[in-house]
Parts: sequence; C-alpha cells; structure tokens
Amino acid sequence: MRTLLVTGAAGFIGANFVKYWMSSYPEDKVIVLDALTYAGNRQNLVPVWEKDNFTFVKGNICDFDLLVDLISGNQVDTLVHFAAESHVDRSITGPDDFIETNIVGTYNLLKAVKQCWLDDKKVENHHFHHVSTDEVYGTLAPNDPAFSETTAYAPNSPYAASKAASDHLVRAYHHTFGLRVTTSNCSNNYGPLHFPEKLIPLCLLNILQGKPLPIYGDGQQIRDWLYVDDHSRGIDLVINRGHIGETYNIGGNNEWANIDTVKLLCEIVDASFAEDSNLAQRFPQSPCAKGVAAESLITYVEDRAGHDTRYAIDAHKIISELGYSPTEDFPSGMKKTVHWYFDNEPWWQAILDGSYRD
Ligand SMILES: NC(=O)c1ccc[n+]([C@@H]2O[C@H](COP(=O)([O-])OP(=O)(O)OC[C@H]3O[C@@H](n4cnc5c(N)ncnc54)[C@H](O)[C@@H]3O)[C@@H](O)[C@H]2O)c1
Repeated sequence: MRTLLVTGAAGFIGANFVKYWMSSYPEDKVIVLDALTYAGNRQNLVPVWEKDNFTFVKGNICDFDLLVDLISGNQVDTLVHFAAESHVDRSITGPDDFIETNIVGTYNLLKAVKQCWLDDKKVENHHFHHVSTDEVYGTLAPNDPAFSETTAYAPNSPYAASKAASDHLVRAYHHTFGLRVTTSNCSNNYGPLHFPEKLIPLCLLNILQGKPLPIYGDGQQIRDWLYVDDHSRGIDLVINRGHIGETYNIGGNNEWANIDTVKLLCEIVDASFAEDSNLAQRFPQSPCAKGVAAESLITYVEDRAGHDTRYAIDAHKIISELGYSPTEDFPSGMKKTVHWYFDNEPWWQAILDGSYRD
C-alpha cells in the first residue's frame, strides 16, 4: 500500500489520473495538493471526494513548510507532480507564474522530499514522479524523426523552457543526492475535464455556442494527441515498473495538423446533432442546430508568436521496456470526449460563467 501526494490534481490530467489511480489501487491513500488557480476546479475531483482514503489540501507547491508537514505528517512515500502553469499562450503574455510554479515550485518539492526522505530519516522505497511535456524538445521539421528520450532539449516558449528547467532539476536531484525519481514527457492530451482554453474543448464549446473556431496561422501545425487515460496508464507503468533515474516519452503515434483535428471534431459534432434531435433544442445557437456544418465557423487568426511547427513522440522505450500501448484511437477518443461535454454541461457552464471558483 502506498501513500501518494499528487500535486495539481484539481486540473485536467491530474484529476483524471487520481480517478484512474484510485480505481486501479483502491487500497492506496491519496492526498491532493492544489492551489486552485484558474485551471483548478474542485468539481474535477467529485468522484473521489467522499472516499475515506482521499484528502484534498488547498495549498501552493511553493510553500516549503506545508510540503514538509504534508509529506512527513502523512508518511507520503510517492509523489506524483502535475502542478504547473500549462497554457503556452499565457506564458507568452505573462511568464512570471510559469517561472514561479514550474521552476521554483518544482525545486521546493525536491527540497522538501529530500529533507523528508533522505535527510531527516531514510524512506527506502520513496518515489518522485515528475510529469513533463514533449514541448521541452522544441519543434520538428516535417520529415524529422520523432522526439526520443535522447533528443536534445530546445524549448521555444516560456512554458516549455520552465518545464525543461524543472526536468533538469529533477534529474540533478537524482544524480547529486540519490533521490529516486522518474520523469515522463507526454504529447498533447485530450479528454474529459479539459479546460476550455485549449484547442479541442474551446472549439467544441464554440460550436455549441455558434462562435468562431479560431485557427492559428494556416492550421498546419502538427500535434501528437493522446487520450488522457492513456497518459495515466503510461504514468502508472513508469511508477510501478520504470527504472529509477530514467525518462520515458509517452505518446500514441497520432500526429494530426491542427486544422484536421478541428475538422474531425466538427464532423463528430455534426453527426451527433444528426443522430440526436435534443441537441438542437439544447444548443440552438449552434449552426448544427440549423443543419449547417460546424466547419462553417472555422476562422483563421494571426499565428501565435514562436509557434512550434510539429511535435511527435517516439514512444519505443516505454513500449518495449514497460509494455505500454495506448487503447484509444483519435476518432474514438474524440467521440468519447465530445459526448462527455454533452453530458456534463453544468461543469463547463460553471467555467464559462466563472462560478466554478466560488
Ligand atoms: N495538457 C497537456 O496536453 C499536457 C501534455 C504533457 C504534459 N503536461 C503536463 O501535465 C501537467 C498537468 O497538465 P494539465 O493540462 O492538467 O494542467 P492544468 O493547467 O489543467 O492543471 C494544473 C493544476 O495545477 C494547479 N497549480 C498551478 N499552480 C500551482 C501551484 N503553485 N501550487 C499548487 N497547484 C498549482 C492548478 O490549480 C491546476 O489544478 C503539467 O505539468 C503539464 O506540464 C500537460
């Protein structure tokens, strides 16, 4: 039985991971530490909130004393670190929070676990798992090989640079102090609970509200999409079977140009409206309610500064060493995602009207 401290799990991936972990390992204790920034939402944790082995703590990973109290007071032996500022656009308009949370916050966590697991007493089977991104590797030309674990870091946005710095700190705490760490670098995630500032949920909710679907530049930027539960499965494998000190790329071999991702989303929404007449009554502002294709809302806008052209993950290492295989393909995962948003309108309406932070 483990006691996990999971940071940032009121956010998109962390909340999905906690649900996944608590159903896979129901005997483990899970403590979530989350500052509830704009991206954090208590509602994301409703399915596990009432469980006896679940605790939620509102707090900041930059608060060193709180971290030490939580880790030593609860005999935490496993830390899974999701907490981050995660939206590239925000890192361009306001990088300060990215430096503070992603770099200083990760450093604080490393300092706290070092004190609790190595200095004050020896916790033999401790494990620090750091959740990172493929964006640390920079960008690829169309015919370049995909990012592997040995690709040199070349981050291009303040977000990617702050995550790269955190990856280096995690690595250094292993090499210098012997902290038992693993890191995973994952491609773009999608699925339930995705905050509607990111491409897929933003476009989906805009279709339902009859608003334009903003596509940066020519829409040809390529992203490698992974369904969020497949990310959780990958992290599970790394925590349970990964080699200490190692880094694992997690991806689904699923490269799509942004414009094609949005077109796939449009097709799925069109088909859903055609199959279910209730949707036209619920979302009368949507073009789909009048039999007009969702694609009609696509609008090209000025490209993001420094926009990376292509990300692609080479996941051979986690596949061959740990037996990883993603379960969801893009059309099936996208359909599940769209239906999750149809079925959970109060969740996203509370975000749109701001009441989720009350
Ligand atoms: N979203 C993706 O496609 C993707 C892909 C690969 C890796 N990642 C990484 O996965 C992790 C989670 O991403 P996400 O998309 O779920 O992010 P998110 O923005 O949805 O959630 C981040 C969570 O961290 C919390 N948080 C922020 N600052 C904090 C602080 N100082 N102290 C405590 N909590 C704080 C927020 O309240 C929020 O709940 C991040 O580390 C991100 O870099 C994300």
